[in-house]
Amino acid sequence: MDFSVTSAVLEKSKSDCIICGIYHGQKLSSAVSTLNGATGDAIQQLIDRGDHKGKAGEVQWLHAPNGISAQRILLLGMGAESKPGNRDLKKSIAAAVEALRKSGSRSATLATSTILSSTDTQELYHLTRTAVETIESTLYQFDIPSSRKKSRPLLKKITFNVADRKGLTTAKKGIEEGKAIADGVSLARTLGNLPGNICTPNYLASQARKIARGEKSISVRVLSEKEMEKLGMGALLSVARGSDQPAKLIVATYSGGAKKAPPVVLVGKGVTFDSGGISLKPGGKMDEMKFDMCGAASVLGTLQAARDLKLPINLVAIIPATENLPSGKATKPGDVVTSMSGQTIEVLNTDAEGRLILCDALTYAERFKPAEVIDIATLTGACVVALGKHASGLLSNDDKLANDLIQSGEESGDRTWRLPLWDEYQPQLDSNFADMGNIGGPEAGTITAGCFLSRFTEKQRWAHLDIAGAAWLQGKEKGATGRPVSLLVQHLLNLG
Ligand code: BES
Ligand code: MN
Ligand code: ZN
Repeated sequence: MDFSVTSAVLEKSKSDCIICGIYHGQKLSSAVSTLNGATGDAIQQLIDRGDHKGKAGEVQWLHAPNGISAQRILLLGMGAESKPGNRDLKKSIAAAVEALRKSGSRSATLATSTILSSTDTQELYHLTRTAVETIESTLYQFDIPSSRKKSRPLLKKITFNVADRKGLTTAKKGIEEGKAIADGVSLARTLGNLPGNICTPNYLASQARKIARGEKSISVRVLSEKEMEKLGMGALLSVARGSDQPAKLIVATYSGGAKKAPPVVLVGKGVTFDSGGISLKPGGKMDEMKFDMCGAASVLGTLQAARDLKLPINLVAIIPATENLPSGKATKPGDVVTSMSGQTIEVLNTDAEGRLILCDALTYAERFKPAEVIDIATLTGACVVALGKHASGLLSNDDKLANDLIQSGEESGDRTWRLPLWDEYQPQLDSNFADMGNIGGPEAGTITAGCFLSRFTEKQRWAHLDIAGAAWLQGKEKGATGRPVSLLVQHLLNLG
């Protein structure tokens, strides 16, 4: 999509369409009044006759209106609040894009002052950035590599019309940052959507290298199974034993901050297919376990966005990547493995593999002396039961970090909900044969998974995001969402 900004007179815009925001139950704003005046009261009449109520996402075309150069106006319902919360704004913009797509418009001009409640630059920045993110994600298409491409939408150009020249700079910044975030989200979606026979551990490594290509600020190292063995990563390697695809530990460092500034470390679960292993999953919907690398995908999407935004921080991305498959060599229930931390684990269920690869990656993270560590993982079905698709589960040993993430979730509209990590849950991991088992029984499955990880992060400020419900949609809309890239980027922006 081609995004641009103008402060030219709206009525003279030559776009196929002008998008005009209408709020529910409010008098026309002065910007809408001007447009209404130019069209000889056509907008007001539509509203008076009840054809448009301004509900969030409501759309109404006004064809060939007199007095303006554009061929049509799209009246766009914005909801009741003149300062729209993120969710209403996203819903409205997405509805506008759908309407534009159906209409065959090639270009559209968004009249920002019909939507803004003030001339505050922060509000304009927020609107342009959110609009770009939403437009890009609504138009996202997944194509299988080297297959016939689907036809591209006609809509090619969006212009943001701003009130004055001062707005030009602000809107440009909003567009640029929105584009960087949207590209990160799209990358995460595409990696998630790719089938497991293409998106292997090695493929994820090649994607990390691709992000780093030609960039002085990023370096990538990919550790082989042999190197992991030397480090004592017995938990991670126990998951990879049943697979013919070699496991990889992908480590990418982005240096945008001061040389000595401690980095933020992001650890993403990269199980490129989770069959459950010897504790085989039931067959129904097993295809969806290609999405079990969405944590890794979100880390790569965030890394790319950090690069494009030139964030003034240091960042380390760590991705333990493997398949989880049954075979004669696979780890069996009851097997005991030794993690890099020295703690031993009785593998009671080979389907609780995510925590086994994460624990070694989290121990590995210690060498970077991080300011904070956040792991992102499609970790438990229990989290889908608890929170559904609307929020990621959040568990943390640090209240400040947890609150920062909750806040970034609200700001980005990519929300999290905190669950407790109380000591009372820890005994559920007791084992008679090792320091701990890898499952905690049927109760509080998301929390006991967090308890397991907490035993490997005692020395660090750490948060865990369980994205099992948020990372992909099911049914007719089946596909990766790219979450929580926007949450993570917002968090990093807030730190910078
Ligand atoms: N990748 C799954 C979690 C998952 C399941 C995410 C369904 C989204 C939808 C994870 O590896 C897993 O299998 N977890 C087990 C843990 C259990 C054996 C303690 C689960 O949730 O069933
Ligand atoms: Mn599993
Ligand atoms: Zn899994």
